[in-house]
Amino acid sequence: GPAMARLVASRVLDVPDFPKPDVLFKDLMPLFADGVAFRAVVDGIVEHHGRDSFDVVVGIEARGFVVAAAIAYATGKGVVPVRKAGKLPRAAYAESYALEYGEATLEVHQDAFTAGQRALVVDDVLATGGTARATLDLVERAGGTVAGFTVLLELSFLGGRERLSPRGVHALLTV
Ligand code: PRP
Ligand code: MG
Repeated sequence: GPAMARLVASRVLDVPDFPKPDVLFKDLMPLFADGVAFRAVVDGIVEHHGRDSFDVVVGIEARGFVVAAAIAYATGKGVVPVRKAGKLPRAAYAESYALEYGEATLEVHQDAFTAGQRALVVDDVLATGGTARATLDLVERAGGTVAGFTVLLELSFLGGRERLSPRGVHALLTV
């Protein structure tokens, strides 16, 4: 709700020209660093989805790991990491995507999910939606089902929500 949005807004730093000119980087490290705010955000995500609506939490390397691990611990679930290319040691599925700046590939282990296992997918920021689209596709290719997708911050002018449609996105703050 509005209180959660205000909380996130109060803990984001705008960094101009990072990682390249004309990109306004949204830095959520101040939110991660504030124990009270971070716990409130994690609890808010759990409350939104309901702790019985998912079996496992998927975190997207790297900033999504922070949120995913906290939600998993708070709910007694496990974490499935979706990693940047070349980091996973066993057979993996790969999905490439165009990022706001550059291009990248994400991977997940082929045996990461049991059949139909319900995954809550989390990341810090939804920008163009390339990262999220690749991750949701990976979850399904690996046999999981997407129980929900939540980000702390959605940059709506970059059209990520449209790119993910008809899948839904829950964002604590949309700018
Ligand atoms: C950032 C952010 C999201 C993604 C959003 O990650 O943490 O994962 O970009 O962008 P998109 O919606 O346009 O795909 P980044 O790839 O910079 O790496 P990091 O999490 O490892 O810092
Ligand atoms: Mg990221």
